[in-house]
Amino acid sequence: MSRLDSAIRRLQAQKAALEDAAQRTADQRGMVLEFGLGNGRTYDHLRTILPGRRIVVFDRQVAAHPDCIPPDEDLYLGDLFETLPRAVAELGRAAVVAHLDIGTGDKDQSIALVARAAPLIAGLLAERAVLVSDQPVEGIPGLVPLPLPDGIAAGRIHMLQRA
Ligand SMILES: C[S@@+](CC[C@H](N)C(=O)[O-])C[C@H]1O[C@@H](n2cnc3c(N)ncnc32)[C@H](O)[C@@H]1O
Repeated sequence: MSRLDSAIRRLQAQKAALEDAAQRTADQRGMVLEFGLGNGRTYDHLRTILPGRRIVVFDRQVAAHPDCIPPDEDLYLGDLFETLPRAVAELGRAAVVAHLDIGTGDKDQSIALVARAAPLIAGLLAERAVLVSDQPVEGIPGLVPLPLPDGIAAGRIHMLQRA
């Protein structure tokens, strides 16, 4: 498969998983968490498919498209391992959808980053919240893997639900 095909499938999987997470949690009250603003592509999609939900965003910096910059009050700026403990104290288990997209481009580094962040992120998830991650999330008590949307190959994206 060409790198172009692979990138397209990754983005299709991300879009399908976020839309599935939105549907699964439609009857729940709570906020959305976006880990990795980047250029704001998935933030923009989340606010499109989840109008009315508060979306709280985590990143080291704001480097997004000017149309995709979250309001200051919804931003935790800085290294995740500094902002996450503060977010857990301030927000509690209030999120119904969380999207983890903090990949660095280096596969092993990204897997290690997610493994370190996931236990802290679990502390922000409400009951039945859905976590979508570009990297595997394993061994977190209370987080159970979900089936992927139809047509999405295993491993392209990862979906879990808080039991
Ligand atoms: C792949 S990009 C996110 C892409 C974005 N979701 C989009 O669709 O445009 C990953 C982002 O994660 C952020 N990131 C990576 N490691 C981080 C860390 N330890 N703390 C905070 N942000 C981090 C980077 O600054 C980068 O903006």
